[in-house]
Amino acid sequence: EAAEKAGFEHFMMKEIHEQPKAVQDTLNSVIKDGTIDFSGLELTKEEILSFEQIYIVACGSAWHVGMAAQYVLEDMARIPVRVELASEFRYRPMALNQNALVIVISQSGETADTLAALRLAKEKGMATLAIVNVVGSSIAREADKVFYTLAGPEISVATTKAYSAQLAAMYCIAVEFAFVRGKITEDQYAYYISELLTIAPKINKILEDKERLQWFAAKYAGAHDVFFVGRGIDYAVSLEGSLKLKEISYIHSEAYAAGELKHGTISLIEPGTLVIGVLTQSKLYEKTMSNMVECRSRGAYLLGLTTYGKYEIEETVDFAVYVPRIDEYFAGSLAVVPLQLLGYYVSVAKGLDVDKPRNLAKSVTVE
Ligand code: G6P
Repeated sequence: EAAEKAGFEHFMMKEIHEQPKAVQDTLNSVIKDGTIDFSGLELTKEEILSFEQIYIVACGSAWHVGMAAQYVLEDMARIPVRVELASEFRYRPMALNQNALVIVISQSGETADTLAALRLAKEKGMATLAIVNVVGSSIAREADKVFYTLAGPEISVATTKAYSAQLAAMYCIAVEFAFVRGKITEDQYAYYISELLTIAPKINKILEDKERLQWFAAKYAGAHDVFFVGRGIDYAVSLEGSLKLKEISYIHSEAYAAGELKHGTISLIEPGTLVIGVLTQSKLYEKTMSNMVECRSRGAYLLGLTTYGKYEIEETVDFAVYVPRIDEYFAGSLAVVPLQLLGYYVSVAKGLDVDKPRNLAKSVTVE
């Protein structure tokens, strides 16, 4: 097992470091000579033009990928997107649009609820596309079309590289749908693709600076509650950051759409409570920041996660974390990495079983 960990103490840290490759390999599988080629998925331009609606269905972190991707897909390609938890989708009488594409996202390709949701969509005669990591898995076999993420085997129960590869795959879908449907120009298409190709090196850059987070994690390993806040894409990143922390460190954490804090959660803020704000979206920066200031005035300790250049954040937060700049549509791919590291280091500081947290399974094949 030590050999399999390639010098890392845990699979999770090894897999965090494999993210640049997972993302790059996944992008390279569809990006050819600066354009996106979906012929391998057997997804034609006519089909892309025909869809009136997209449903994204998944569980756990894969659902968080859907939550992040919906903002990009809906805004860039101007197509209505609805994200559903597979366990809800399968039992919910919905007025489904038949001319929809149902995208199911799953690392294992075996999650019972996601598989059942896929079967339901097929029964209803809807077109289905699976984003799957495990080749030949049930979901990969049964979906009409498959977009394989090339993350390689993931051992740690807490997903990292599969999540990042899934998100990269969803960005490709957003950019291609936007272009084919005439919502972006040829120049914008080329620009977005070139931005996608910067994700992997930028993740590497974040990993070079991980010791600062290790120091911070040791300081907060004794926390009882942590709140993650953000708006839009940053809210989706918060959901994943919160899940990473709670599943491996056993610290209670919640992710909130920043504007919702005042409707209840703010009553839980006490002196010293850690509030982590994700602020990669310029248009929403001030709004989220004002919610964080409300927390600070109740005694919260603030961590602000933003992009290089926004150094004024240090006037307001107690601890600032920066990720490289990238087109803001894709900032989620970078912002999630420090949050994965934070969860990892807190778990290690508490001496917990990072790769095999209690009560959890890598693949949930029962309902
Ligand atoms: C389990 C795993 C999660 C994963 C979820 C969905 O709960 O612990 O990391 O996100 O299942 O799994 P899937 O294989 O469908 O992506």
